[in-house]
Amino acid sequence: MCGIFAYKGPKTNASELVIKGLKKLEYRGYDSWGVASKCDGEVSIYKEIGKISDFDFDNPPPECDLKRECSLAMGHSRWATHGGVTVENAHPHYSTDKSIAIVHNGIIENYIELRNELKEKGYKFESETDTEVIAQLIQEYKKDNDIVESVKKAIERLEGRYAILVMCADEDKLIAARRGSPLIVGKGEDEFFVASDIPAFLEYTRNVMYLDDDQMVVINDKVEFFDIKSGDKIDKRVVEIDWDVESAEKGDFPHFMIKEISEQKDTIARAINQDDEMIMKIAEEIKSAYGTYIIGCGTAGKVALAGSYLFSKVAERHVNTTFGSEFPSMQNFITDKSLVIAISQSGETADTMEALEIAKKKGAKVLSIINVEGSSMDRISDYSIYIKAGPEKAVASTKATTAQMAILTLLAYACADKLDEGKILLVDTASKINDMLNPRYEEHILKLAKQIKDHESMYVIGKGMNYPMALEAAIKLQEVSYIHAEGFAGGELKHGPIALIHDGVPCIALVSNDETKHEIISNAIEVGSRGGYIIGVSPDNHEVFDYWIKVPDGGNASPIINIIPVQLLAYQLALLRENNPDMPRNLAKSVTVK
Ligand code: M6R
Repeated sequence: MCGIFAYKGPKTNASELVIKGLKKLEYRGYDSWGVASKCDGEVSIYKEIGKISDFDFDNPPPECDLKRECSLAMGHSRWATHGGVTVENAHPHYSTDKSIAIVHNGIIENYIELRNELKEKGYKFESETDTEVIAQLIQEYKKDNDIVESVKKAIERLEGRYAILVMCADEDKLIAARRGSPLIVGKGEDEFFVASDIPAFLEYTRNVMYLDDDQMVVINDKVEFFDIKSGDKIDKRVVEIDWDVESAEKGDFPHFMIKEISEQKDTIARAINQDDEMIMKIAEEIKSAYGTYIIGCGTAGKVALAGSYLFSKVAERHVNTTFGSEFPSMQNFITDKSLVIAISQSGETADTMEALEIAKKKGAKVLSIINVEGSSMDRISDYSIYIKAGPEKAVASTKATTAQMAILTLLAYACADKLDEGKILLVDTASKINDMLNPRYEEHILKLAKQIKDHESMYVIGKGMNYPMALEAAIKLQEVSYIHAEGFAGGELKHGPIALIHDGVPCIALVSNDETKHEIISNAIEVGSRGGYIIGVSPDNHEVFDYWIKVPDGGNASPIINIIPVQLLAYQLALLRENNPDMPRNLAKSVTVK
C-alpha cells in the first residue's frame, strides 16, 4: 500500500530514476504521486493526482522541474488513507520552512494530537494527511539536533505503522526508517536505492538489505543501519535476490494479470519443488500442535479456508481458519503449544502480520507460506515456505493463489504420511493446467464474458473444497469486473440467497467429480429452475449447464484447477467493461495498513 522509491548515487538523473521506479511500484497505490529532489541546496517537490504511468517524463508540463540534474531524489505513489485524493494530500510533504521533505507509507495513529501540538507552536499544515506531522516534528527537533538525531526523536513520538524516507535541504543524506511497513535498500555500485518492493530496482541491482522494524538507515556515500531505540549501529547482511528482471515485467502481455494467469502453467510445478525433509518437519509440527490456525486476508484468507477442507479430507485433521483481521478475537485460544500458519503473497499484509505478532507473544510457533522472501512475515516466522511464484504485480492474485493452494495440498498429504502421493497429484495437476491454458480455451471464456458482461450481479456456488474457491471466484470477479459477485456454499442457497435469483442471472457452479458432485448439481438445478443462467465449471457436461467450461479432473487438487477459468473470466470481463485489470479502483496490491 503506497509505493516508495528513492535514489542516491553518482547519476545525475535521480528524479528520472525515481519516476521509473515508481512506475514499477504503481500496483501498490495509484491515486496520486510525487517526487522530491535535492538540487542546489534546496528540496523541490513536484506532485500530481492520477496514475504515474500516465506521466511522460520526456514531455512534462511546463511547471514540472523534474528534468533538473540531481543525484538524490525520492518519490511516492499514493493509496489514500487520511485525506482525499488531492495534490495537497499527495506525498512528498514539506515541513513548514520547506527544509525537510518526507514520504510515508502506513498510518500515524496519534497524528491529531501531534498536529494540535505543532499548530500551537506555529507550524502551518497544508494537507489533511497524517504524514505531514512527521516533517514538522523533524523541523522542530532540528532546532537543537542534527538531522539523524531529529529523525530519531520525531519517530519516538509516532504511534502506528510506517515506512518513511526523509530528505533535508542542508545535507546530502537520505534517511529511512520503518515500523510495520516494508522498506528495502538496494546496493548497487557506489549507488543506493530504497524501495517498498524489490522489483522496483531489480534492473540495477540484486543485492538487497532489509530494514527491520524500529531500524533506520542513513545513506550518503555509504550506508549505515541503526537501531532506533538504542542508537546502536547494526551490521546488515547483503542478500542476493534470484528474481530475474523479466519476471517483474509484462513482456508481450497486455497486462500483468493475464501474464500471471498464464504463468500457472509453470508455477505449480515450481511451488512443489520443496525440500521434502522440511515439509515433513512442518507436517510433524502440525501433527504435534495443540491447535493449528491458518490465517490470511482476502484471497489468502480463502486459501486458508481451503486448507481446512484439505486437511480434513486428506489428513483427517482439524485445523482452524480465520481472517488476519479477525484473529485478535480468537487469541484467547492461542497457547505456546499452538501453531499459526500465515498465508500471504506479499508477506506484508498488516492484519496478518498483527496476527503473527500476537501469536508470537503467546509463545506459539509461526509458519509463513509466502511469496516474498525477506518480507516481514518471513522474518518473524519460525519456518517459512516460499511458494516461488515470482513477482506477482497485478492487484488480483492469481498465480500466488494456486501456488499457495499447492503448498497446503502438499502439507495435507505430508500430514497423512503420503507426501509422494501428494507430489504425484500436483505434478499431474501442473501438466493438466499446462494443457488447459491455450488460446482456444481463452476464446471459449471470452465468448461467455461477452454474453454476461452487462449483468449487475452474479453468483458462484461450490461445495466441500470448492466452497472456498466459490468465495475466491467472487473476489476475483468483484475486484476487476466491478460486477456485484457473491460466493455461496451450494447447500446454503435455499436458506436465503436463492431469493436473489431471477431470470438470466449468471450463476457459476464449481463441480468436481467427488462426493459433493450430486448435491452441487442439485443446487445448480434449483437455481436453474428459478431462471438462473448456469455456467458449469466441471470435468463433465450436464444438462443443467447453460454454458459449460470444461476443466480437467484434478482429484483432490480440483480446486486449484477450477479457479483458473474464473480468473480468465474476470480478466475478460474487466477488459470488456473497460476497466484496468491490473489496477482496480480503490485497491492496492499490498495492504500494509489496518
Ligand atoms: O499479500 P497478501 O497475500 O497477504 O494479500 C492479501 C490480500 O490483500 C490479497 O489476497 C487481496 O485480497 C487480493 N487483491 C485478491 O486478489
